[in-house]
Amino acid sequence: MSVYHNLEEAERFIHTYYSETGRTSDEMDQRFVEIRQAIAEQGFYEHTLEELQYGAKLAWRNSNRCIGRLFWETLHIMDARSLETEEEIAQALFRHIEYATNSGRIRPTITIFKPALQPAQQIRIMNHQLIRYAGYETDEGVIGDPDSLVITKLCQELGWRGEGGPFDVLPLLVKIGDGVPRLFEIPSSLILEVPLTHPEITGFADLNLQWYAVPIVSNMRLEIGGIHYTAAPFNGWYMGTEIGARNLADTGRYNMLPKVAAIMGLDTSRDFSLWKDKALVELNIAVLDSFKQHGVAIVDHHTAAQQFMRFEANEHKNDRQVTGNWSWLIPPLSPAATPIFHQHYADTIVKPNFFYHDNI
Ligand code: ARG
Repeated sequence: MSVYHNLEEAERFIHTYYSETGRTSDEMDQRFVEIRQAIAEQGFYEHTLEELQYGAKLAWRNSNRCIGRLFWETLHIMDARSLETEEEIAQALFRHIEYATNSGRIRPTITIFKPALQPAQQIRIMNHQLIRYAGYETDEGVIGDPDSLVITKLCQELGWRGEGGPFDVLPLLVKIGDGVPRLFEIPSSLILEVPLTHPEITGFADLNLQWYAVPIVSNMRLEIGGIHYTAAPFNGWYMGTEIGARNLADTGRYNMLPKVAAIMGLDTSRDFSLWKDKALVELNIAVLDSFKQHGVAIVDHHTAAQQFMRFEANEHKNDRQVTGNWSWLIPPLSPAATPIFHQHYADTIVKPNFFYHDNI
């Protein structure tokens, strides 16, 4: 475990922050002195609220896999650095869910918890996202989300009993240091979900599909100026294809294409009929239409790609290079019908940024 507070990283971030926000070089030099002194005296420094806010926004702007970065400046930051206990942390996560959901008018939000000075104090949220569905191994195959098998088992070992259905929301698992993770059931009144219907295919509703409104990624660490925030869940709103072309469609996830094709009456005996492609499009129409009907914010992949073009133009106007991971930026449905497909991106990692944890 390295000491997180690297002076060089700190200075690089402070330099970016102070120059992008139009501060004077006197102010910047003053802050350099403070930080050097803090690190020399106590071994670490702390971000001011303004630094934390700007740093989190920069981490979003630098997220090479994210197509939604046009909105990086609108990120709402919840400063939860003073919280100590698992209970307090769980309460803050509930507040995040409520604030971000906003009855469907989703607000991009991040909640930032205390960075660990010692590994023994590391705060970790073990869930992949704050709201996600359980997956159960049964004799008839997996029920629910196959991506959640491991965490579901862990929750069960810790005493949780799910209903055994395809869309059971997992409890939150909060861990401090190497203590035993604590379980917190999310009050169902906080969880907004959308039942999926199709505007023309009436039989679609019989599939009894649904998805939750807000994807709140909770298993990444936020790094700003050498400080590692090991728990910093963040959310935007969904792009339809994440649900319709991946979560519900992947064979290793809900694998719904054969069922969608069946209610559409398609010939699934030959790949040559392109039944998978037809089913995919209708499933994605169902996702977008259902979210819209329920007043839940969502973006289609063509609009998102146009927004990404505007993000690129803004960045260039400000003399900044846009870094990106092409294979993540292109949507999984009709990629070549978006301008992103026809461009090249350098996948250089710029900090602040979000990273996967080194261990689980
Ligand atoms: N792809 C993930 C999912 O389908 C969510 C990742 C974050 N997505 C977002 N639109 N901010 O659940």
